[in-house]
Amino acid sequence: MQRTQVAIIGAGPAGLLLGALLHKAGIANQVLELHSSDEVLARMRAGILEPGTAALIDELGLGGAMRRDALIHAGIAISFGGQRHRLDLQGLSGQSVLVYGQNELTRDLMSARAAAGLPTHFQTEQLSLHDFDGERPYLRYQRLGQSHELACDFIAGCDGFHGIARASVPTRAYRCFERGYPFGWLGVLADATPPHEELVYAQHERGFALCSMRGRSRVRCYLQCSLSDKVEQWSDGRFWDELHARLDPATAAALRPAPSLEKSIMPLRSYVAEPLRFGRLFLAGDAGHLVPPTGAKGMNLAAADARDLAQAFIDHYRGQGESALARYSEQALRRVWRAERFSWGMTRLLHHFPDHNGFDQRIQQAELEHLFSSRAAQTVLAEGYVGQSLN
Ligand code: APR
Ligand code: PHB
Repeated sequence: MQRTQVAIIGAGPAGLLLGALLHKAGIANQVLELHSSDEVLARMRAGILEPGTAALIDELGLGGAMRRDALIHAGIAISFGGQRHRLDLQGLSGQSVLVYGQNELTRDLMSARAAAGLPTHFQTEQLSLHDFDGERPYLRYQRLGQSHELACDFIAGCDGFHGIARASVPTRAYRCFERGYPFGWLGVLADATPPHEELVYAQHERGFALCSMRGRSRVRCYLQCSLSDKVEQWSDGRFWDELHARLDPATAAALRPAPSLEKSIMPLRSYVAEPLRFGRLFLAGDAGHLVPPTGAKGMNLAAADARDLAQAFIDHYRGQGESALARYSEQALRRVWRAERFSWGMTRLLHHFPDHNGFDQRIQQAELEHLFSSRAAQTVLAEGYVGQSLN
């Protein structure tokens, strides 16, 4: 049987960052990933880094490509009532965010891991977790037709919402808190100039829309859609027409349709599992919680979990006691719930809820108008968006 100190399940941002932080501290770890590296890198994901997340990448010495290619955004725009309103993140919170795709960050972390010769086992199948409630946990998996066992001190479940780690815990051992939303997001990636230098979040009676970007000549745009919609029902033409209809005239006029490079639909969901620790198994990132993408918090939460969990393991291996490991779940959940509240609040503020009546709609309008007439309200949103008030 092979052995390592920390066995990490999942090569997404949570698992790869945890692996990099542990390696920097001299703690042996192995990453096991269900898919191939190409498949992991091909998944479309969000693209906003809070300054705290970017600082963590810098601390690891892995911020080279990020600092070269990321766009620094000192504000965001909110489009409603036919106008674009600016939220001055920098002026209100003293901080900006970075626009850098999760795919790029994952690629940077994977190549650093490969360059350092650290073990990452892609295409691991039938992975199972054993004895994590005892002293000697281990994993069993198949790879290229061969069976393997990996003994470890700890297991980090960084395998996303549909992973095996949380699913291996008896359901009576944890509670789930959930909120579904009666709509999804239809996302399109296309080579086009972004219609505005900052992200535009649009509230419209036809539904929410978002114009984000990947660099200066590629857009990532989203439309609120029905949960029953299928990608095939959305031709490129229909997508761009609908997006134009939901944007303020200035943004719409600057947006040129282009062929889609990728098109996908995702449901929106808020989810928290409590606790995030089960004996020697710890959950981090989407494995333990989900936020709707409106606040762009998913990747930042995964990074913060990895940072705290790495620190707890470091304390343990340096003989500084178990208190950080004992605190991990509670500490992470406090942060998670703040991000849940923020993401739920932004989702509620900007979407069209099919079950809302006229009263609810007027309240939403009043909330948006309050936001742009109150610096205090803007500061609250800006501090949440840059992650300042969430840690
Ligand atoms: N065995 C091994 N690996 C698995 C298994 C399994 N049984 N199940 C899932 N995985 C892998 C997935 O293939 C994926 O690569 O775990 C990885 C989890 O990565 P992410 O889903 O990216 O989750 P996380 O690292 O927590 O990052 C959260 O990703 O989903 C986005 O928007 C979310 O930005 C957030 C971020
Ligand atoms: C993205 O660029 O994919 C993105 C940006 C901001 C969000 C969500 C997604 O709030």
